[in-house]
Amino acid sequence: MNKSSEVNSRHKKVLWNSHLLYYKDPLVLDKGEGLYVYDEDGNKYLDFFGGILTTSVSHNHPVILEKIKEQLDKIIHTSTLYPHRTLVELAEKIAALAPGNLEKSYFTTTGSEANDLAVSAARKHTGNFDIMVLRHSYHGGTSTGKAMTSQFNWKFDHSAAIAGYKQTLNGYCYRCPFNLKPETCDTACAQDLENVIKTSTSGRVAGIIFEPIQGVGGFITPPPNFLKIVSEITRQYDGVVIADEVQGGFGRTGKHQFSVSHWEVEPDMMTMAKGIANGLPLGGVIATDKVAKSMDDGPLLFNTYGGNPISSVAALATIEVLEKEGDPEHCHQVGELLMNGLKKMAEKYSMIGEVRGKGLMVGVELVKDRTSKEPAVEATGQFFEATKKAGLLIGKGGIYGNVIRIAPPLTVSEEQIGEALEKFDCAFAEIH
Ligand SMILES: Cc1ncc(COP(=O)(O)O)c(C=O)c1O
Repeated sequence: MNKSSEVNSRHKKVLWNSHLLYYKDPLVLDKGEGLYVYDEDGNKYLDFFGGILTTSVSHNHPVILEKIKEQLDKIIHTSTLYPHRTLVELAEKIAALAPGNLEKSYFTTTGSEANDLAVSAARKHTGNFDIMVLRHSYHGGTSTGKAMTSQFNWKFDHSAAIAGYKQTLNGYCYRCPFNLKPETCDTACAQDLENVIKTSTSGRVAGIIFEPIQGVGGFITPPPNFLKIVSEITRQYDGVVIADEVQGGFGRTGKHQFSVSHWEVEPDMMTMAKGIANGLPLGGVIATDKVAKSMDDGPLLFNTYGGNPISSVAALATIEVLEKEGDPEHCHQVGELLMNGLKKMAEKYSMIGEVRGKGLMVGVELVKDRTSKEPAVEATGQFFEATKKAGLLIGKGGIYGNVIRIAPPLTVSEEQIGEALEKFDCAFAEIH
């Protein structure tokens, strides 16, 4: 028995079998160096998923390690009861990067908590209750997160029963529910929000929450006017706009610091986590002063680990490294290489139904045939094993699990994009 098998068999005995694990023989990661990770048996992989879009500036980056070590020697934990210099510096930095009038932050430990808090703030600010959510969304694993998440396979029965979350259509042109063409549809999916508000709410809503590019949903990328239209309709019905940037934030989608800016929307709140601190646990909400003020008169808010000094210095260091080695322009350029390479591969492999996304958030939807668009679920599983064999880590998503998610650290080089494309080609050729 090799070392990985030994860990896997012990994992089964003491950890819940409900852990979602990738691969037939789950990968037991041991160490990371730059864009490469190694399993316990010494096998090397090019990491194009970054622990779900979280390792944003590569593994064991020396600047991040140095800053964390410095902070470890000073103080590890304070709680949100005591102000800390690193927390203030981080909030200042994010306010400078954030779009529009977003200026005041509250830090948590995870993205789910950040979304939970943003929804509470929307309700408190507006005095309204209903939150509009998009079909195929994913907003977290807590009760509120699962209630908002709009994919059946992530929901308990009781999460589906939680009141106050109303699903509206997402912008999924590849599988348009109206069977319309993007050139002539007048973004009917976005316009339908008004019908949903009029027929499923009191006509007053607390807000809408959306991932500009839907992550777990399979990197579904809405058409150009989509987010503008749903934001305008929400505001007409007294609600605020919350952009969930947990996956798309900090330049990943290229050109802009936050993905919502591709759609020219200035949200009232934005939630962040994952790539913010290169793997250290940190989440946060940034809001306009007006929205943040509405939380001033209670209830009491507290978060034991929220914005802890270690995570905060890691986040500051991550932003510093991104400015030098992985800014939005770099993400745009290497993202184009990746996207174009995959689109070229689509000419060779008919199972590729659509290549979509922006910057370094690229999805490939696999189908049994291009006319029926039947999801190629089994082939996606085979492709997954084939890429692992080729030494490449990627992610999976989509309500049917037939979308390949590609999201390397933002410091990825052109050569590494080339290396990954070669491995993709080998894997497609193997299962075609
Ligand atoms: C878009 C989005 N929002 C929120 C979350 C929840 O974040 P966390 O797992 O840190 O609670 C996730 C996690 O995958 C996510 O993808």
